[in-house]
This record gives sequence, C-alpha cells and structure tokens, in this order.
Amino acid sequence: MAKVSLAKGIYWVGAIDWELRDFHGYHTPRGTTYNSYLIVDEKIALVDTVKAPFFEEMLERIKEIVDPGKIDYIIANHVEIDHSGSLPMMVKEAGRAKVVSTQKGKEGLERYYAADWPSLVVKTGDKIELGKNSLEFIEAPMLHWPDSMFTYVGEEELLLPNDGFGQHLATTGRFDDEAEEAMEEAARYYANILMPFSSLITRMLKKIGEMNLKIKMIAPSHGVIWRSDPSRIIEAYTKWAAGETGEKILVIYDTMWESTAIMARAILKGIMDEGGEAKLLHIRHSEWSDIIKEVLDARIVLVGSPTLHNGLFPPVAGFLTYLKGLKSKGKIGAAFGSYGWSGGAVQKVNEELKAAGMEVIEPGLSFRFRPDKGELDRGHEFGRELAGRVKTR
Ligand code: FEO
Repeated sequence: MAKVSLAKGIYWVGAIDWELRDFHGYHTPRGTTYNSYLIVDEKIALVDTVKAPFFEEMLERIKEIVDPGKIDYIIANHVEIDHSGSLPMMVKEAGRAKVVSTQKGKEGLERYYAADWPSLVVKTGDKIELGKNSLEFIEAPMLHWPDSMFTYVGEEELLLPNDGFGQHLATTGRFDDEAEEAMEEAARYYANILMPFSSLITRMLKKIGEMNLKIKMIAPSHGVIWRSDPSRIIEAYTKWAAGETGEKILVIYDTMWESTAIMARAILKGIMDEGGEAKLLHIRHSEWSDIIKEVLDARIVLVGSPTLHNGLFPPVAGFLTYLKGLKSKGKIGAAFGSYGWSGGAVQKVNEELKAAGMEVIEPGLSFRFRPDKGELDRGHEFGRELAGRVKTR
C-alpha cells in the first residue's frame, strides 16, 4: 500500500468506504472515507480512528509506518462512532497510549464503550509536545457534537478539524486537487450535517482568525484533504454559515393525484418565463439530502403538499421535519397544495416553514381537487412575482 504523506512524519492512515450509500439517513452517493492521521515524532500520535469494520485497514496502514505499540497518544477529536468505533481495538494495540479528548469527549467515550482507558482531558489552548511538532487543541462544542474539538499542528500549519470541512467522498486521491467533486460534496455535507450550527461556525471561524492560526492544509476526517488552497473551503464555509444565497428558487412538492404537481409546474413556468433560476424537486423521487443541498444556496423555498386527513401528506410531513431541524438562514418560504373536502396542508406547510426559520409569504396557494384555469394563472403569476422579487432585492 502506498503511504500517503501530508508533511514530514505526518501520514493519512484512514480507510475508504466505497460502498456506503446511507450515513444515518443521509444519502452518500459517492461513499465516504474515515480519515485517521499518524504523526511520527519523538512521540507518536494517532489523530482519530475509523468506523469499527475498517479497523484492520487502518491498522495495516499504521503498521507500514510504525509499530502500533509505540503510539503515545490517540486523539479522539469526536465521539461519534464513525471516528471512535475502532478506539477499543486501537487502545489494546497501542498498549501504553493515552486517549486525549475534551471533558465531554471523555464522558461520551465512557458511555459508548464503558471505557476505563488511560486518558488526558484537554481544553482550548492546551498543547502536547511531540518533539519537532506539537499538537494544540481547540474545543469546538456543537460542531457538531458537544465533545467536538479541532487539533492543530502549528509547525506544519495543519488543521485537523474532524467533521469540519469534511465531505462524504470515496476517491483514490486523498487531496482536493485530485477530486473535482470535493466542493460539491463539501456543500452537501455542510447542508445536511452542519447547517443547524451556522452561527457557531461563524463564531469559530472568527476565533480561528483571532488566534492567528496559519493554515496551509486542512485535513478533515471525511473525504479529501484541502491542500491546494484551503482558503477556498474557508470562504465557502463563511458564505454558507452567513446564509448567503444566490437567486435560486426551489419548487419542492409531492402529489397524490397530480393536482399539486400541476400547480408546481405552473409556478415553475412562471419563474422561468420571468428568467428566474429554479429547480423542481419531487419529495419521493429525490433523496432528501440532495434536496437539502439545493436549499443551502436557494433564496426561495416553495413547498407543495396535498391535504390528507386534514393535514400534510405524510412524505411532505417527513421532509418538513428534516428541513425544520436544519434551521436554514435567510430564506423566504411559501406553500401551495390541493385539498378535497376541507383544506389543511397549506396552513401546516406555512407553520413548518416558519418553524424552519423562514420568512413565509402567506397565505399560499390552496385549491380544491384540480386547479382550474384561474388558479393556474394565479400560480404562474406567483412564480413570476417570486422571480422578480429575487432579482430586485
Ligand atoms: Fe463523522 Fe460526527 O461524525
């Protein structure tokens, strides 16, 4: 196996999961990687481990470089089991190593593994000297778990931020300049995993700036390592965290007997006739994580639902629950949908979009059975108005 070196004495020793298509409900069409990094100096540190089934793959890579029994520190930047799953086995292999984490990390590891390992709790600013290199720790609570932290190797200007700046992307290349999909997957990752924590991300980026950390390379624990120009991904995070959007309008819908679909297409036509940028997304025919990636930089989010039993069509209800939890910023929402005997869905979509943090244009477009010509004209006009609103803001 060819060694992957980031800098002198610093290696990628992770694992590639080519077949993963579902990461706790998040669609991962391009698989993922679990990245571990080995720093060989007078003392030896392993930063993060891999998901348990990939332990042997990681161990084999480590053994090509050092005897695992000589590892002094295992840094657990994050408790989630895609990074800590191999920790119990690795602790056994490493014999004398201390497990380094935040206090919350220690508590989490104890809960998951009933662990009583030699450990070291660190906080922001603490350092471990390895020899020529040192490890500095930066607590990153709720980015994206309470235990999360970043590790920084100042001598190499290398940031190891665990899930931060990551992508679910399995590739033969380990670096961003070897994977053209890196930014697209970073956006999908941000939208589905980190979007609810955008305000904290803005604060963290500011803190990193205030700490004057020089960053030549960012090596996350999923996907490729940002080495060609790390400012590219930092700028993208700054924009996403601020809720900056383009002019894109999304028409997201589901339908029982095509009535809501017919209206979705009328609205879309109105947007297009006004020269607007839009996407039509069917909730059951799309992966929700793909829709959420589109939401990330959309300005207006329309959601259409038929009424079923006085409420939302269940697939729309499920999608809105997911959307609501992600707390997107700076978006306008609107609802539309059909009903048979009495309404209900449009009002409920409005409520959910408001709970998702959107400014909602009320009351939305509601119509009985099939939309008639007048209602379709109104839908088309609504599309035109929205496209105009986005352009003139
Ligand atoms: Fe990659 Fe939060 O785990």
